[in-house]
Amino acid sequence: MNISELKNKATNSEVTNLMGWVSSVRDHGNLIFIELRDTDSRIQLVLDAEKVELDTFKSEYYISIDGEFIKRDPAMINKSQALGEFEINVKNFNILSKSKTLPFQLDDSVDTEENIRLQYRYLDLRREDMKKNIITRSETFKSIRGTMNELGFLELDTPTLTKSTPEGAKDFLVPSRKQIGSFYALPQSPQMYKQLFMVSGFDKYYQIAKCYRDEDSRKDRQPEFTQLDLEISNGSPEIVKEVTESIVKNLLSDVFELEVEIPFIDMTYDEAIKTYGTDKPDLRIKNKIQDFTNIFKKTQIKFIKSALENNGFVKGFVTEDILSRSQIDELDEIVKENGSSGLGWFKIEKNEVSGPLSKIINDDEKNEILQLGEGMLIFQSGTKEIYPILDILRRSIFKPDDTLNFLWIYDFPYFETEDGEIQPSHHPFTSPKDVTSFVEDPTSSKALHYDLVLNGSELGSGSQRINDPSIQTKVLEMWGLSDNDIKNRFGWFIEALSYGTPQHAGIALGIDRFVAVMLNTESIRDVIPFPKTQSGLDPLTGAPSVIFENELTEYNLKYIEEINEE
Ligand code: AMO
Repeated sequence: MNISELKNKATNSEVTNLMGWVSSVRDHGNLIFIELRDTDSRIQLVLDAEKVELDTFKSEYYISIDGEFIKRDPAMINKSQALGEFEINVKNFNILSKSKTLPFQLDDSVDTEENIRLQYRYLDLRREDMKKNIITRSETFKSIRGTMNELGFLELDTPTLTKSTPEGAKDFLVPSRKQIGSFYALPQSPQMYKQLFMVSGFDKYYQIAKCYRDEDSRKDRQPEFTQLDLEISNGSPEIVKEVTESIVKNLLSDVFELEVEIPFIDMTYDEAIKTYGTDKPDLRIKNKIQDFTNIFKKTQIKFIKSALENNGFVKGFVTEDILSRSQIDELDEIVKENGSSGLGWFKIEKNEVSGPLSKIINDDEKNEILQLGEGMLIFQSGTKEIYPILDILRRSIFKPDDTLNFLWIYDFPYFETEDGEIQPSHHPFTSPKDVTSFVEDPTSSKALHYDLVLNGSELGSGSQRINDPSIQTKVLEMWGLSDNDIKNRFGWFIEALSYGTPQHAGIALGIDRFVAVMLNTESIRDVIPFPKTQSGLDPLTGAPSVIFENELTEYNLKYIEEINEE
């Protein structure tokens, strides 16, 4: 019997073999009160202090009891608990398993260092808020599976010992013992396999898939994470968006009891960057980037002048509130951390413009700034490199409301330049929007790629795929791969596309991110049962760990440098 089942029980009836953890023990003279906790409920136990020693029970002992289920004295009712009106008069008890002293209190309000929580994750997961997160994650899986079944998708799995799948990160590699000198790569996503399902004639695929990317962890990134991955034959971006919207709508209603309007709004990549400075705008904040270039056309402010001479602009925000000196300093630090030389600002108050730059402005500039109304003008000058800084400023200055804002971003550039290298902005299996212009001028062409964004977080990404082997080869060439590389890394895939491949499109949604955004948790680690730390470690098991000499020999591997084992 679970504690929650007691609510259907008649008062004054017998309870037998009720099990749970001792959550707290309180001494009330001749009575001992214990709060007994199981997976989802709590109940108060009452014991006679004359018959049992107080220190028989310690926190987190796992016990079973028999007793009488009774109503509490009306003055003693605990309204915050579902069974707060009742208690059990214990007649017999059994300590089934003792607990060592806990490394931290399981009280939700206790602020324990995350590393310690992760080291004892099995205890951390006993805490109410963590339990709620993990149950929400499970309900999310259940809702997704329900919708996918309803829509006629097949749940198909794909291998995790495989060949590299490029998604923009480094691979985790697994040495093969049987094929000495060869390595499997753990999949960054099931991308190529799901496309093979389309070639094979499974027209609606989905999978709740584990993906592995050896990249720096952040609040919204883990080296191992979970996607809802789907693909549709004869699909198009419109069909994929429609299916995704149904999944999200059902999920919000099944798991969070929320109604959301579909279809979601959409916005081109260029508009998102121009208006919000990012391709994942947080639309809970209504303020948009404003252009102030005209005010400074004849400026003597050196850094603005030089930006304008280089075809740059002045963009930023007007706040209604006057920011304090410490708020300004904080924003200045934030923009500097993100590559700016500093925060530009003017204070507009009582028909006066003040601030360090106010002494250099001419009368026209001053008058135009005054037109903006009381408050602050906060700005950056430069070219497109200032957009990410404007995005950060926007999110630092203005508070979001508590609505849910889904939107689709589309019309991404096909290629982007990262650290001087040209990269497909999605992955190299994405179809160009216009094949002819792609062949003529690949670097300025667009991709049939779309992202789903919620409240400033990229929840999912997908695209129309290339189903023509010659275009696939062209894209890989454009990406800078040699003929040999193309043959060795992707020859098998291009071969597969060469046997009558239907048009197809798909998407993958980050489930960890989705649950974390919905529950408003600090990081996605809070919604993953056993996550890794920022540096990719698992404090619970100690993974990754050094392997022994004899194992190295079996795999024909050797350390280039001596490893110091602690
Ligand atoms: P993409 O790489 O954009 O696309 O990933 C899709 C979604 O997965 C989530 N995600 C992550 N979540 C946690 N930790 C990470 N390290 C991480 N990386 C990505 C994000 C992201 O939007 N194969 C394509 C999809 C497709 O084209 O169908 C892909 O994986 O929420």
